Amino acid sequence: MPDRQPEPRIIEADSDRAPAPDLARAVCNVLAAGGLVGLPTETVYGLAADATNPHAVARIFAVKRRPQFNPLIAHVETREAALRHGRFNREAERLADHFWPGPLTLVVPKRADTPIADLVTAGLDTVALRVPAPPLARGLIAAFGRPVAAPSANRSGRISATTAADVVEELGGAVDLIVDAGPTAVGLESTIVACVGAQPVVLRPGGVAREEIEAVLGGPLEVERSVEDRPAAPGRLAAHYAPATPVRLDARSIEPGEALLAFGPDLADGAEHAAAIRNLSPTGDLVEAAANLFRHLRALDRTGAVRIAIAPLPSEGLGEAIRDRLARAAAAR
Ligand code: TXA
Ligand code: MG
Repeated sequence: MPDRQPEPRIIEADSDRAPAPDLARAVCNVLAAGGLVGLPTETVYGLAADATNPHAVARIFAVKRRPQFNPLIAHVETREAALRHGRFNREAERLADHFWPGPLTLVVPKRADTPIADLVTAGLDTVALRVPAPPLARGLIAAFGRPVAAPSANRSGRISATTAADVVEELGGAVDLIVDAGPTAVGLESTIVACVGAQPVVLRPGGVAREEIEAVLGGPLEVERSVEDRPAAPGRLAAHYAPATPVRLDARSIEPGEALLAFGPDLADGAEHAAAIRNLSPTGDLVEAAANLFRHLRALDRTGAVRIAIAPLPSEGLGEAIRDRLARAAAAR
């Protein structure tokens, strides 16, 4: 690859512990200098930059090769920190109380005096805020002392990175430093809920199931995926999360040359002839399936199979987010 830069620096760390002082210093130095850090959260690895530095944020878009300036999520260490950047209505407060720290992103009206760069919010008057769960990620953000803008650490349109090796494969030496905390626990991006108008709206299904959010709010939630599907580039964004190999959904039998992405104990007819098999969860557990989704898709994408056949998955709980990602992978071509 012509534009490959030197290998990034990688430092190993434990997600469940606050960062060691050396690590915190290394990460803060890179961020303060306008650099990019591969940051493990509980959902996926983020490509992190100082959210108050527009030059650093611009590098995120360059490195990801995003076709346009999509707004980014600003990560903060606590709910209190989030309140400095956005205005929270009753629903937003409730959801923050209940799900933070955790895999939920809240889109709220942006405060006029937030130091978050306009490039992070793509000039919108709303801001996406999230408090990640792992003590490691939160400790690093707290040590830096400013909000951290971080999209998923993959090239635009490709599968999200759930390990440090994925980040290297996606972005190589364009990242200054990668914190390697092993595979991420959730494996799917955060659920995004906008609390802007009269009713909260789900903009992206993800790591928190819609049913859980509805239980907290006490009513059904509207789902409107207008953000990622914004028709600026029709079909293009519906095709997010795409492996290079074509994908076939709801496959109950295997065709010649296909690899199988299975779910549950019962394999598709003809599975014994599959070019390769990965099972998202042999016991049919959707949480396990979410954690394995991108890793297994990446693995099957490398087998040289003519197509990836994907077993039917239930649509409740995390199944909604998994099916959303798979539908996007299938829409790619
Ligand atoms: O789990 C996650 O959310 C990961 C980790 C790294 O935190 N991040 C992530 O970021 O998935 P990204 O940039 O790949 O997806 C962020 C989504 C985009 O679809 C963007 O359009 C939406 O959030 N978003 C950001 N700000 C928004 C805003 N003000 N209004 C509506 N949507 C917004
Ligand atoms: Mg992404």
